[in-house]
Amino acid sequence: MPDTIFTPTYLILLGGPGAGKGTQAQWLMVYLGLVRVASGDLFREHVRSRTELGQSAQRYMDSGELVPDELTIAMVMDRLSRADCRYGAIFDGFPRTVGQAEALDCALAEHGWRIATVIDLQVPFATLMERLSGRWICSVCGGTFHATMNPPREVGRCDFCGNALYQRTDDKPETVANRIQVYMRQTAPLELYYQQRDLLDLIDGTQSVAAVQVAIRGALTQRRLHP
Ligand code: AP5
Ligand code: MG
Ligand code: ZN
Repeated sequence: MPDTIFTPTYLILLGGPGAGKGTQAQWLMVYLGLVRVASGDLFREHVRSRTELGQSAQRYMDSGELVPDELTIAMVMDRLSRADCRYGAIFDGFPRTVGQAEALDCALAEHGWRIATVIDLQVPFATLMERLSGRWICSVCGGTFHATMNPPREVGRCDFCGNALYQRTDDKPETVANRIQVYMRQTAPLELYYQQRDLLDLIDGTQSVAAVQVAIRGALTQRRLHP
C-alpha cells in the first residue's frame, strides 16, 4: 500500500459475470478520480505477456474457475502498492471469495483504513447469459459495449478511443454457465459478509446503464462519498 497522508477511498463492485461491473467502473473512475483495480484485466494482461502467473491463471480462466486465492491476493496487493493507488481504488471483480475479502480487510486495517462501500449489481442469470454473448470490449481502453443492448456508435470501434473491439474467449456459453455457478458457490457468500459489516448497497443492475449510474450515485451520496 503506498504511503499517504490522506485517507484513501476504496470501493468494491460486486456482481455476477456480466452484471456490469466493468461498464460502471468506467465512469466511476472519472467521477471519483480513482483508479480501477480489475483482477480479471490484470490476469488477462499476464496471459497476454505470457508471464508465469499468466500461464498458471489461464487454465482456470478458460474453464471459468477462480484463480487460487494465494495468486490472486498477491497480484492485487502488488497493484495496490503502486503510486497511482494513493487516493484509493475501485475494485472490479475482487474480492471474489471470503478469503480474499479477509485479506483485503487485513491489509487496509494495517493502515487504519477500510472499505467505504460495496456496490452489489443484481442481475438474474438469464440476463447475464444474454449480456455476455453480445459483449464487445476495447482492446486499448477497456470500454465495454453490447451488440444490441449498448451498441458502439460504429460497429467494431470503441466510442471512447476509436480502437478495435474484441470478444473475450471465456464468453462462450458453456464457460459462462460455469462462471455463474462458480459465482453462486464462491462469491455470493460475500453479500452476507459485507451486509454484516453494513457496507452492502444493493443496486438493480437490470436497468439501463444510465439508470444504474443514477442509482449508484444515490448510494454514494447516502454514504457521503462525493467526488
Ligand atoms: P472478470 O474479468 O472479473 O469477469 P467477470 O466477473 O466474470 O465479469 P465480467 O467482466 O464478465 O462482467 P462485468 O460485470 O464486468 O460486466 P460488463 O460491464 O463487461 O474475471 C474473469 C476470470 O478471471 C474469472 O472467471 C477468473 O478465472 C479470473 N478472476 C478474476 N478475478 C478473480 C478473483 N478475484 N479471484 C479469482 N479469480 C479471478 O457488462 C457485460 C455486458 O453487458 C457488456 O456487453 C455491457 O455492454 C452490457 N451491459 C452492462 N450493463 C448493462 C446494462 N445496465 N444494460 C444493458 N447492457 C449492459
Ligand atoms: Mg468485467
Ligand atoms: Zn477504447
